[in-house]
Amino acid sequence: MSVIDVDLAERSYQVHVGQGVRGLLPEVVPDGVGRVVVITQEAVPWTVDPGVEHIRIVVPPGEAAKAVSTVESVCRRLAEWGCSRADMIVAVGGGVVTDLGGFVAAVYHRGIRFIAVPTTLLGQVDAAIGGKTGVNLPEGKNLVGAFWQPSAVLCDTETLSTLPEREMRSGTGEVAKYQFLGAGDLDRLDLDARVAACVRFKADVVAADERESGRRAILNYGHTLAHAIETAGSYDLRHGEAVAVGLVYAAEVAYRLGRIDTARVAEHYRVIEAWGLPSRVPDMLDDEELVDLFSRDKKAVADTTLVLDGPHGVETVVGIDPDVLIDALGALR
Ligand code: GLY
Repeated sequence: MSVIDVDLAERSYQVHVGQGVRGLLPEVVPDGVGRVVVITQEAVPWTVDPGVEHIRIVVPPGEAAKAVSTVESVCRRLAEWGCSRADMIVAVGGGVVTDLGGFVAAVYHRGIRFIAVPTTLLGQVDAAIGGKTGVNLPEGKNLVGAFWQPSAVLCDTETLSTLPEREMRSGTGEVAKYQFLGAGDLDRLDLDARVAACVRFKADVVAADERESGRRAILNYGHTLAHAIETAGSYDLRHGEAVAVGLVYAAEVAYRLGRIDTARVAEHYRVIEAWGLPSRVPDMLDDEELVDLFSRDKKAVADTTLVLDGPHGVETVVGIDPDVLIDALGALR
């Protein structure tokens, strides 16, 4: 088992990674917590025992649960149950559940404690780490949210054994992102070590820039196009698959701006394709519509902002010529 510190002064916490670590829940529930609300989805085949009185709230299936309406219904359940600041939330599931559960914890009674037990690869290497919580609007993903750090995160790699193959592969889209960011040759590691390496990399970035005023933006590598694809419509791409397309797109843009050479672009395709991930934009999506959506991504500080690789590593680049953005999309058709 690995224990990784997310070093954030009084908001510091530990991430436990390994087989069966969900069993540590009673130990990581902070002293003084009265009762626990477990938030989960029906499709999550894993249960937890917090070791104190608890209830279970099952939210609707899929990404649809990540909505303002679900926040209202969960908060009303908490109020009916008499949930107080002495109680806490434990979110058990994929990124949808940990993002939603964390956001409910951030806003209910102006903030109660929570623990994340991510049960997907994507949740374990990214969504559940670092305190970004939130829900979607029809206008875009994660547009309503808060930074709210958990008290602990339990990345139980045993839970990955029940993940459908495609979900597992989708998670590797985020793993590939860490590889390009410099987390090392992650494909050479076993699963537990790979998850731990991603968590360690993210923990360091978050510790350096919790609120994304600078360095943390590198974690959005590949995400601008991914979010545009996801907002434009449900084209049967999982989030990590859309990120994979976004990673090769970022490489194509960086190449056109003279920031990286053809070998580095080829490296992007090689890693993405070796993981069995897609590297093509769905045909039915229009170039202009996608580029237009880039400016709605909340990470954009200007219309033409992207996180790109370059001579100094991955960084935010503003003021990219829209013709370059369109031309690079052509390479992914
Ligand atoms: N998923 C990107 C971040 O947590 O900053």
